[in-house]
Amino acid sequence: MERQADGVDGADGTAAGTTGARPRVVLGVGGGIAAYKSCELLRRLTESGHDVTVVPTESALNFVGAATWSALSGHPVATGVWTGVHEVPHVRIGQHADLVVVAPATADLLARAAHGLADDLLTNTLLTARCPVVFAPAMHTEMWEHPATQENVATLRRRGAVVVEPAVGRLTGVDTGKGRLPEPAEIFEVCRRVLARGGLSRDLAGRHVVVSAGGTREPLDPVRFLGNRSSGKQGYALARTAVARGARVTLVAANTALPDPAGADVVRVGSAEQLRDAVLAAARDADAVVMAAAVADFRPSHYTDMKIKKRDGQGPEPIRLAENPDILAGLSADRPHPGLVVVGFAAETDDVLANGRKKLARKGCDLLVVNEVGEGTAFGTDDNAAVVLGADGSETEVPYGPKEALAETVWDLVSVRLGGAPRTG
Ligand code: CTP
Repeated sequence: MERQADGVDGADGTAAGTTGARPRVVLGVGGGIAAYKSCELLRRLTESGHDVTVVPTESALNFVGAATWSALSGHPVATGVWTGVHEVPHVRIGQHADLVVVAPATADLLARAAHGLADDLLTNTLLTARCPVVFAPAMHTEMWEHPATQENVATLRRRGAVVVEPAVGRLTGVDTGKGRLPEPAEIFEVCRRVLARGGLSRDLAGRHVVVSAGGTREPLDPVRFLGNRSSGKQGYALARTAVARGARVTLVAANTALPDPAGADVVRVGSAEQLRDAVLAAARDADAVVMAAAVADFRPSHYTDMKIKKRDGQGPEPIRLAENPDILAGLSADRPHPGLVVVGFAAETDDVLANGRKKLARKGCDLLVVNEVGEGTAFGTDDNAAVVLGADGSETEVPYGPKEALAETVWDLVSVRLGGAPRTG
């Protein structure tokens, strides 16, 4: 059955919404309650200069009607292939798109896309599109975790689509778990990045990358810890850019206060030991591990169950420290498989390059991103400058700029080292 609408195209026969150089985005909307969140995604896309054609499925219109999509996009909306047949919309919309983003992507829609079905306008569009495609799934946890869905997702990723991991949180009804549509702002970021890199963007498709971010906290008593000033921004930028390049991303986040990047699997940790366990577990089937987290070198050797109290007249008890494991050095020396690319970060205050070279040798990693810590760089800021040192003697300078730019350079260098096709198994 097809919902009638006013036609999909302008009378001049040009692609829906071809207006100058504005990037053409097709927003596919699946039949899930999260469809309402895609109104916000649509608004962000149009307000930032994208020309958006919305292609909902028939069932999506049960949640948000055609009038809403049409009013927000400024274009007519259709769900089936029989509207405006003379303009061949089932082929043309996909052919002319610069990006197709499907949000929410239901289990049914992922299955139809993975199997190449073409039973409505959206699935036809997916088959004819030659541009990057982003899927933002939303469904109940059981449906997401079902092997059928997971295999469909793997198939789509293998073909180069970006499938962002669903967020964890409140689902429809009383359920809580993995399956929420990521926030529209985060999906928008993925779209922006994928568009910015054009068709060349998915060099990490089929890869699993692990990024650690933030700063560890070493507990002293139930209310106190030893910590550091890392915000996690650089690690989050690495995670976001890797998602946009098609990777499956595990982000091990230590004490960060940033919104989860859409598409990354976020594992939250506190201490260095927890971070090590999470990173090593995720590294088993990973292609690359990037240690952007600031890991405490020492922890209080003794944790006190009760809050440490002031002692009248005796002054404070000294804090004794024990050394934490060096996660980066351990992983580099004892890799779960020889193809794993390992990247470290180093924040230095003086003799930056010489200290960086020594650290690279000591840690045994493949790449070391060396920052000079000072005013306006590294901790807590949005911008950074660095030199990326390679174990092969290479030096790549990254001028002062957004942390995303540094992240892209890191992935460029990782991508070269990964070479060829993704590992299987
Ligand atoms: N790192 C780690 N485990 C630790 C300490 C650091 O994996 N226990 C990692 C960090 O994530 C980072 C790199 O090692 O990628 C370098 O961290 P840095 O603090 O600069 O190095 P340190 O070995 O602590 O050397 P320094 O004496 O300069 O503090």
